[in-house]
Amino acid sequence: MSLINWIDDRFPLSKVWNEHMAQYYAPKNFNFWYYFGALSLVVLVLQIVTGIILTMHYKPDADLAFASVEYIMRDVPAGWFVRYLHGVGASMFFLVVYLHMFRAMLYGSHRKPRELIWLLGMVIYVALMAEAFFGYLLPWGNMSYWGAQVIISLFGAIPVIGEPLAEWIRGDFVVSDATLNRFFAFHVILLPLLLALLVYLHIVALHKVGSNNPDGVDIKKNKDKDGNPVDGVPFHPYYTVKDTFGIAVFMTVFLGIVFFVPEFGGWFLEKDNFAPADILQTPPDIVPLWYLTPYYSILRAVTFEWLPGGAKLWGVIAMGAAIVMFFFLPWLDRAKVRSIRYRGWMYKTALTIFAVTFVMLGYLGTKNPGHVDLFVFENVIWAQIGLVLYFAFFLLMPIYTRFDPTKPEPDRVG
Ligand code: HEM
Repeated sequence: MSLINWIDDRFPLSKVWNEHMAQYYAPKNFNFWYYFGALSLVVLVLQIVTGIILTMHYKPDADLAFASVEYIMRDVPAGWFVRYLHGVGASMFFLVVYLHMFRAMLYGSHRKPRELIWLLGMVIYVALMAEAFFGYLLPWGNMSYWGAQVIISLFGAIPVIGEPLAEWIRGDFVVSDATLNRFFAFHVILLPLLLALLVYLHIVALHKVGSNNPDGVDIKKNKDKDGNPVDGVPFHPYYTVKDTFGIAVFMTVFLGIVFFVPEFGGWFLEKDNFAPADILQTPPDIVPLWYLTPYYSILRAVTFEWLPGGAKLWGVIAMGAAIVMFFFLPWLDRAKVRSIRYRGWMYKTALTIFAVTFVMLGYLGTKNPGHVDLFVFENVIWAQIGLVLYFAFFLLMPIYTRFDPTKPEPDRVG
């Protein structure tokens, strides 16, 4: 086609398309778990597009913010739809990213040579948590306000510099208009730019080494006479079509939630956020949304005041360490095989306990620590048990993955 030729003479359009789509070979055995990278990308785009539309009507001013959101919900044509897409989208983003990360832990995708893909993924994950936290203040609801107040005050636990640091972050002695303005800048400019850049680097790193697969087998070891992996298929059209199907199913579920249960029983949008921010009215339970609560649980599990510096400081350290642990996963895992299919009972048991613990901590983080919401023990006791199991999963990993009775990895994908 002459237009394509014209562009190709000036820009490597066909070259990039072929290298990354039409002649990019991906393993032929991708399963359900391999949808979530593409879905993360879809939700990222959706968040950016809906975010731009919301920004056209939203006012980042402590006196106007809450009312401007109500205006979007009631008066802006389809404003409610755009806002719910964005709000539900935040939760769906974390859902698909958590499943995407879990996939890596199932099939050993974090292992050599994909350590950098994993590390970039982890930086994305941390940036995503920051993005969600900044965005949550913007509607200027009462939970927005108090959530920000609690999280920023955690910095105050750091010895000596803590209090001035918290004040510097807020731009005031309490969360105020100055805080709202800067959070708006971070939420709409800084972090989206950073996320887009990081996702680009994540994919560049992925295409340098190629995808792992549910068998954990290196498909580049077996090539045909043209030099293409015998266990691979071109990404386009095979996976573009498969991912389109996954996106359609996902969007059906997503829109079902947006249309019928956008608050999702308080899990995606809390009832305290339907009241405007009030400095004199602390909500009875200040909790972040579900995707941050596993770490919030770990923070609150440290109740031992006899620790040097106090319980709060160690809670903050434990919370930070819980996130940092994930960065080291590629080096903590010493197994001879990648995929769970060929691992022994030790890793299978450890990963199952870890997944259950993570969900339990997430649940407990939404509850009052003093209540008994699970069996027998108060929530804080369960959170302490969860904390021990959480760290044991990572810290004992070099031992149990080394001694795990693995099966030999096959030469070809199944
Ligand atoms: C905005 C968030 C993210 C986007 C858009 C994204 C996108 C993608 C895409 C499109 C792929 C290839 C398709 C697939 O394997 O499913 C991929 C692979 C991968 N991602 Fe992500 N990702 C995100 C976050 C993360 C996070 C948080 C982690 C882990 C901490 C991560 C770790 C990985 C790994 C290890 C692979 C290689 C998987 C394999 O080859 O088996 N990603 N990512």
